[in-house]
Amino acid sequence: MSEIAFLLNGTPVRVQGGSPTRTLLDFLREDQGLCGTKEGCNEGDCGACTVMVTDARGPRALNACILFLPQLQGKAVRTVEGISGPDGALHPVQQAMIDHHGSQCGFCTPGFITSMAVAHLQGRADHDVTLAGNLCRCTGYAPIIRAAEAAATAPVPTWMTTDAAFTLAEISPEGSGEAGSLPGAVRPQTADELADWYAAHPEATLIAGATDVGLWVTKELRSLTEVAFLNGITDLQNLTTEGDTIRIGAGVTLTDLRAGLAGPHPQFAAMLSRYASEQVRNAATIGGNIANGSPIGDGPPALIALGAVLHLRKGATRRSLPLEDFFLDYRKQDRQPGEFVEAVTIPATAPGLRCYKLSKRFDQDISAVLGCFNLSVEQEVITSARIAFGGMAGIPKRARAMEAALIGQPFGLAAFAAAKAACAQDFTPLSDMRASAAYRLEAAGNLALRYFHDLSGTAASVLEVRA
Ligand SMILES: Cc1cc2nc3c(=O)[nH]c(=O)nc-3n(C[C@H](O)[C@H](O)[C@H](O)COP(=O)(O)OP(=O)(O)OC[C@H]3O[C@@H](n4cnc5c(N)ncnc54)[C@H](O)[C@@H]3O)c2cc1C
Ligand code: FES
Ligand code: FES
Repeated sequence: MSEIAFLLNGTPVRVQGGSPTRTLLDFLREDQGLCGTKEGCNEGDCGACTVMVTDARGPRALNACILFLPQLQGKAVRTVEGISGPDGALHPVQQAMIDHHGSQCGFCTPGFITSMAVAHLQGRADHDVTLAGNLCRCTGYAPIIRAAEAAATAPVPTWMTTDAAFTLAEISPEGSGEAGSLPGAVRPQTADELADWYAAHPEATLIAGATDVGLWVTKELRSLTEVAFLNGITDLQNLTTEGDTIRIGAGVTLTDLRAGLAGPHPQFAAMLSRYASEQVRNAATIGGNIANGSPIGDGPPALIALGAVLHLRKGATRRSLPLEDFFLDYRKQDRQPGEFVEAVTIPATAPGLRCYKLSKRFDQDISAVLGCFNLSVEQEVITSARIAFGGMAGIPKRARAMEAALIGQPFGLAAFAAAKAACAQDFTPLSDMRASAAYRLEAAGNLALRYFHDLSGTAASVLEVRA
């Protein structure tokens, strides 16, 4: 049966027919008359369309504008209309926004309320993080943060907890359930199912978190006729440590990756906190970040610096290659039709890893330059070096000349100054709206100096400089 079933503000919804790349935002506003969820940018940047989505992994804030209906199969969706109580009682964050004057023109407010209600339900107090994906032009944020702080100790309203108990069988008893989808789309449940189907449909488009593909539809107005949704494939969503290796399934979200790497690779995890926003990280997967092949993706440079191995699969055939060899040229990867990213493996430890993201805004901005360094030093001599950059070439790329300038040298400023000088042999960057070529080259070289000071114990980040 071609059907998508989910819970919407506590009420079962079954969608039959229609395009599988119809967004939740359009469905809410056009079919359901739920116009509280706003369309601002329609590309995942502003958070005006934030909704709460609950599944077995708990509640998450997601952007409805780049969320396709089949991604909601079996989940519970709560919009701003469902944040207040059934009798109209205000949620504590709504009351606090009124009390603290958190709304002026108010266009952003429904998205803020929803993000705040999710964070309140999760018991989180990192308001700068949970609200980084919600843009407000009017209030300067202080009243909104004050409102979030004021609401923090209020109990979670009972109506906010009911979604967690929802099961698909309640609304789709005949079991169209987990395999549900719409015409032109499939929703495999295992990597094996995906492998068989994709080998037979190599021209199809895979959709994981849709934080890239969503924009192909909303901004480029592309029609995708044959698609596979990957978010039901739980065996691609595991992050496991096997001996001295961490295996990251392609379907692991950036949120789960950040949490999973906080212990073994804290510097990588810290960089990921600047990857897009809470809403985008909750959807985006590492498999999509790699397969998309963007020269400014944040995952690949860090993974290359770690010596990551990429695991690809086509049907029953698997192959593995160093991640840097996957990126051939601008938007050209070593991936055959019908072949997909299954996982990526990295060493379980790399104490020398540092990742420096340079962008115009701290939050929710694409890197102008991302430099990732991973050196080993024994008895004051640099014995190995892996350095990779994003934003410096048409692909995420290793800095071989910089590495060569360091290996075998005494650990000291002179070696890193030589590495900085070698940067121009590795890269001829472009000028674009994010940065000029000259800035990129200078900044990338300077990151080598920053790395030296960082490893030497000098505060190298403005975030760590405290009065
Ligand atoms: C507002 C916003 C901010 C962003 N900020 C950042 C940022 O700071 N840093 C950054 O790096 N990126 C950023 N991105 C880009 C995007 O989030 C990432 O590229 C993301 O990781 C893509 O993952 P996804 O699961 O959403 O991929 P999708 O959009 O679902 O797919 C992306 C591509 O990968 C393919 N694909 C997906 N999974 C697989 C698989 N397993 N095997 C083979 N092919 C596959 C798809 O077919 C498609 O070609 C941002 C995007 C938005 C909308
Ligand atoms: S409308 Fe801006 S994030 Fe969705
Ligand atoms: S209140 Fe005007 S944009 Fe936020």
